[in-house]
Amino acid sequence: MNMRKSLLALLLTSTIFPTFLQASEVEVLHWWTSGGEAKSVQILKQKLEQRGYTWKDFAIAGGGGESAMTVLKTRAVSGNPPSAAQIKGEDIQEWGGLGFLTNLDDVAKADGWDEVLPPVVATGMKYDGKYVAVPVNIHRVNWLWVNPQVLKKSGVDSVPETLDQFFAAAEKIKAAGFTPLANGSGPWQDTTLFETIALAVLGPEDFRQAFVNLDMGTLSSDKMAKVFETFGRMREYMDEDVQGREWNVATNRVLNGQAAMQIMGDWAKGEFTAAGKIPGKDYLCVPAPGTKGQFIQNVDSFAFFDIKDEAEVNAQKALARTIMDKQFQEVFNLNKGSFPVRTDMDMHGFDKCALDSRKTFEQSIENGGLVPSMSQNMATTSYVLGAITDVVSNFFNDPEADPKKAAHKLAKAVKAAI
Ligand code: GAL
Repeated sequence: MNMRKSLLALLLTSTIFPTFLQASEVEVLHWWTSGGEAKSVQILKQKLEQRGYTWKDFAIAGGGGESAMTVLKTRAVSGNPPSAAQIKGEDIQEWGGLGFLTNLDDVAKADGWDEVLPPVVATGMKYDGKYVAVPVNIHRVNWLWVNPQVLKKSGVDSVPETLDQFFAAAEKIKAAGFTPLANGSGPWQDTTLFETIALAVLGPEDFRQAFVNLDMGTLSSDKMAKVFETFGRMREYMDEDVQGREWNVATNRVLNGQAAMQIMGDWAKGEFTAAGKIPGKDYLCVPAPGTKGQFIQNVDSFAFFDIKDEAEVNAQKALARTIMDKQFQEVFNLNKGSFPVRTDMDMHGFDKCALDSRKTFEQSIENGGLVPSMSQNMATTSYVLGAITDVVSNFFNDPEADPKKAAHKLAKAVKAAI
């Protein structure tokens, strides 16, 4: 269902009562509830409170934010949106188009956002040329997280760089009695893994053709069938208890040595950091197999709702300023696993994973290796993403499903959702 229809449906059934805010209070909806995420959001709260405002937490658990978005729609149609909400990618345009968001241009101008944000990020924060959202970080989706001890115990002496090397290593790890690939379940995790494999198999050009330009030929191609086939092979290297498991619980399995690897965005690093683990020693971060030098971009951001109350508007502006503050950007991103969105930051305190990520981001802008994340709402509308997710998840949950047919289904589903 598209956003307009789902909002209408909610309007007819909504029973949510308004909540009233104290003066100088901002209510912020987000889905950052895992160990690393919760620590990071705590920093935003503290920094805002240092400016004399109060943070009212509106956290809805669930990686990827699907549940959070459902709750947000209900609140918004009942005429009582929060002050700000974690909304990103194409969703910003959809909420902007429906007239829900406020214009932050005065703060953006005063604080020179256009001068410090990469254009590829700034553009996504604007609706109709005006800032309606503020970016927090830049995440890279295509990472492989590795427990080097488990590789060693399994007799794997180098970290896999290609998909072939990945499957060869996975066989050895399985034979040694460990889980090769830590994974959870659910549509969002399925699509995240799928798009990383898609980048490896298709390359950046065809990735964009498929998920940004929605080219039917690419979506239904033999290459796309190969993506599904490779994706399906991954099932053999996961454990049997994936059902209902969140992504961070899967990260924990790598961290504590039950599993060898996880393919996940660098919010996973937030979990290693929260557990006091050191990159290069306790764990390794390397590009997901077959995606060296390429970058699937995921930018977290908060969009701001059009609110009438003056005190709340001032509190909103303080939150917007806090998010772009250099010191906040540093501490937050150190905890979150991402790197700062500002280009004028001193990166001294950051580890190898973050430095590699930033360097690859910059290089990939130049060489065409940068692609927007399909799974994280960066590439296409919520309705197209919903259609892709259904096909991908259904395929993954049916070991008998045929890759060729899945590619054709994908093209059909996307066509119907455009
Ligand atoms: C993503 C979000 C990340 C991370 C992840 C898991 O959508 O962009 O920051 O938190 O969900 O919850």
